[in-house]
Amino acid sequence: MKLIQKTLFTLSLFILVACQTTLNRHVAADYHISNSAQQLVTWETKANAISERSNEVIRVEHYEIPLRLLEKDFDANLDSNIKNSLLFTKNGETYARWIINPEDSKWHLEVKSFLQKHKIDSEPKKFFDGYLTASRSMILVNPTNGASFSLKVSTDKTGGKWTDKKQTWADALQVRNMNRYLQETLPKMDTPTLVIMDEPLAMGIKELDHGMIMRSLNDLPEDGHYYLPAFSALHDVEGARITKLNGATDPVRFWDKHLNEPIARAMAEYFAATGSWYDSPHAQNFLVELDRDMKPTGRIVLRDLGDTYLLEDFVKNTKFGWITKNWDPNNVQQGKITTGIGLLHGNNPPSWMTSTEYKEYQWGFYRTFEQRFAEITGVPYNEMLRTESKESLWSYSRKTYQATSEAWKKFIRYANCLNGELKTLAGEKCPELYLKRQRKIDCFQGVNAIIAH
Ligand SMILES: Nc1ncnc2c1ncn2[C@@H]1O[C@H](COP(=O)(O)OP(=O)(O)OP(=O)(O)O)[C@@H](O)[C@H]1O
Ligand SMILES: [Mg+2]
Repeated sequence: MKLIQKTLFTLSLFILVACQTTLNRHVAADYHISNSAQQLVTWETKANAISERSNEVIRVEHYEIPLRLLEKDFDANLDSNIKNSLLFTKNGETYARWIINPEDSKWHLEVKSFLQKHKIDSEPKKFFDGYLTASRSMILVNPTNGASFSLKVSTDKTGGKWTDKKQTWADALQVRNMNRYLQETLPKMDTPTLVIMDEPLAMGIKELDHGMIMRSLNDLPEDGHYYLPAFSALHDVEGARITKLNGATDPVRFWDKHLNEPIARAMAEYFAATGSWYDSPHAQNFLVELDRDMKPTGRIVLRDLGDTYLLEDFVKNTKFGWITKNWDPNNVQQGKITTGIGLLHGNNPPSWMTSTEYKEYQWGFYRTFEQRFAEITGVPYNEMLRTESKESLWSYSRKTYQATSEAWKKFIRYANCLNGELKTLAGEKCPELYLKRQRKIDCFQGVNAIIAH
């Protein structure tokens, strides 16, 4: 009897030890998603008129791929917790975790065949906790060090109307190049309305032209504020609820003031500093920053900045002229720039908005954009106003500005100044109008920063 008991005890102990890691992960991860990030997931999945999906945690699968088989483009200052989430060492070799989108039934099979061809274990593994969003992107949490970030790979299913979307390596490189440009440029300029979600890491499988892009959630995981997707602001229930929470009664007026107009200002600041504009300026690419009490802060978050039109004449006059060479040629424009806005493009309108009110949003958008852009660059408002807009019901409104007048030529000539430099590439001193838009380094803050280090 004693022998049986002893054997049973040893056996249970053995099973317990063998299951230790699995048990740990099923019972409790050391780190969880923050409240603000969880709220973002809930808005992305539940407050989108075009689709409702699960906001529950998923044990996301990945393939383990030796880094030597991958293309990579990492930011030099990449957060080590994030880097260590995607890279690890096995048998003395560095591997990457290549994420499988949980809804994808197609693209990851190409990755599997690629691994089989290279005689590498192609069994999916589990490590991350993950959450769906409205788009291809997922929000991932490393359960062992708490790093959380957004990550995007190909999938044939997303929340909205455009479902089968391959993430190519070529596009991932374009995203990384834009990110370099933005990182170098925007911090030097005064852009009070603008927040960018950086994309500091991309990996690729060249022979499949597959890419994986990591996007930072900025300080969202620290719970200081919320990011509300623009489609949730225009959501029938949630848009009205947040309006009420802010003591207002009319969601159309509230979101005109706190969504539509701030996006117009943000795009003026963005375009003036970079010479680029989204080719698909829909609501999934904009977010409204809210404070802890869900009050709009006036700042707008831009994400997904790879697919943009470039005003080539402008970008070529900056230190980042080289990005125009590797850019999608259909999106490189000479002597003109196509702009647009379509906050309900690909979506269903809320019951509290009429089509006339939507049109008024778009007129208001261009009024605010043109005023702010004129203020920053000196291109006269009246000149921009004369450009005709093309409108589609509940969709995009577009204006293609001819950038050939004297005022536009000046904007183009001094592009480097709008990038935060003191002189043009040709060595000409920057005019005061542009210098005054540059962010001044406060001496006191500068000295403090040095002492702090
Ligand atoms: N309300 C919405 N408006 C626009 N797109 C939506 C909406 N809801 C879901 N989507 C989905 O989001 C995606 C938008 O495409 P886009 O190329 O901007 O994003 P992405 O590159 O897939 O992801 P991300 O913006 O997260 O980087 C599409 O797959 C579309 O179906
Ligand atoms: Mg997008």
